Amino acid sequence: MGYDFTTAANSLEEFWMPFTPQRLFKKAPRMVVKAEGMYYYDEEGREILDGAAGLWCVNSGHNPPKVREAIEAQLDVVDYVPMFQFGNPTAFKAASRLCSAMPKGFDHVFFSNSGSEAVDTALKIALAYHRVKGEGTRRTLIGRERGYNGVGFGGISVGGIPYNRAAFGQLLPNVDHLPHTHDLERNAFSRGMPEHGVEFADELERIVYLHDKMNVAAVIVEPVAGSTGVLPPPKGYLKRLRELCTKYGILLILDEVVTGFGRFGSISSSEYFECDPDIITMAKGITNGTVPLGATFVKKEIYDAFMNGPEFGIELMHGYTYSGHPLACAAVIGTMDTIQDNKIFENAAAMAKPLEDAVHSLKDKPFVEDIRNCGILAGIQLKDSGDPDDPGRLPRESSYELFRRGVMVRYTGPNLYLSPPLILDENHIDRLVTSIGEVLDDMAA
Ligand SMILES: Cc1ncc(COP(=O)(O)O)c(C=O)c1O
Repeated sequence: MGYDFTTAANSLEEFWMPFTPQRLFKKAPRMVVKAEGMYYYDEEGREILDGAAGLWCVNSGHNPPKVREAIEAQLDVVDYVPMFQFGNPTAFKAASRLCSAMPKGFDHVFFSNSGSEAVDTALKIALAYHRVKGEGTRRTLIGRERGYNGVGFGGISVGGIPYNRAAFGQLLPNVDHLPHTHDLERNAFSRGMPEHGVEFADELERIVYLHDKMNVAAVIVEPVAGSTGVLPPPKGYLKRLRELCTKYGILLILDEVVTGFGRFGSISSSEYFECDPDIITMAKGITNGTVPLGATFVKKEIYDAFMNGPEFGIELMHGYTYSGHPLACAAVIGTMDTIQDNKIFENAAAMAKPLEDAVHSLKDKPFVEDIRNCGILAGIQLKDSGDPDDPGRLPRESSYELFRRGVMVRYTGPNLYLSPPLILDENHIDRLVTSIGEVLDDMAA
């Protein structure tokens, strides 16, 4: 008798969903079955405007033909190739295409499967780099409060979202955190980068002094803290972090899993923020959300530091079964072709100001406490519900109501946030923002 895999019932019970209130979802599932361009569709064929690019990842809009064709063409020739000691041309081609588009100096890339793995890879490379350079005392990693750097043990250790860490006890040792940069008192309703707060970067000096500079390996921050509700960096902040990292010989890692691949009109936001890091992580939009892929880009000096010792020796004891997976790398190439052919980065750059003007028009709507924006990202912070058991009721209920009205807007903590696909136009922006305003008005009525 062979196995029979055909007996599963049509049940929602077995799938333990990620970052989701299971019981609430399963009571009233928000099921999406189709997607095209700026829209999702539910089982009744109802159109839902995607204000979130899925999960900050469908940057080039849903289902672009070139991405699909690239994946299909790859599948026609080879499904899987091990990258441990063997190779496939698609992975090398994707790496070359990516590095040639990256800011100057980022000429090597390590592939993984997700943003979390791209971050853990970056942290491991930073530690190993100092060791190969003969500075093996540098073991301390510095993240930032309210940072989201994925869910691996490395990522949650340097990350600073209390709820994401609370259940898991002792995390990595040798970690410290910069303060977050959200200063509601001085910066509420800032357009783009807030004026105040460059001095938050100076806290790095205090932390480095505490641990001793020869013990500090790397600083990791998101250029714009995304998952915590879109916190753009104060003017000059990232530049200052760069200066301090250089002063103390510390590697600077920018986690660009959200800000990379076009949200700031170019492949990396580092140029926009005038900050030249040592390592950059990306994922999400890099394959337009189709086949999972994480990427950790490093400068030549870092890669070269490992290229020592006998040629038969593995220089970095790290990698994943699916590092450089042919389908994921084909998706990278298809995504880059799509972006180029459709001038998607150019559109993102052009739509940043209309998005800014539109979201800030919500300032006087009920419950609104702060509005932040930068690139094609915006966060709308709502007031505490006043119920100590459910302080985040307002963003949750407005997100649910928006979905009922055909608009997907996600929420975290007290924030609604917008990260639409970069193919958006002014009509999409208007519909997103008008819908949010109407829902807030109706909730207050
Ligand atoms: C800045 C940042 N880093 C890392 C990650 C983790 O990515 P993944 O969910 O693909 O592991 C995310 C996910 O949202 C992110 O926003």
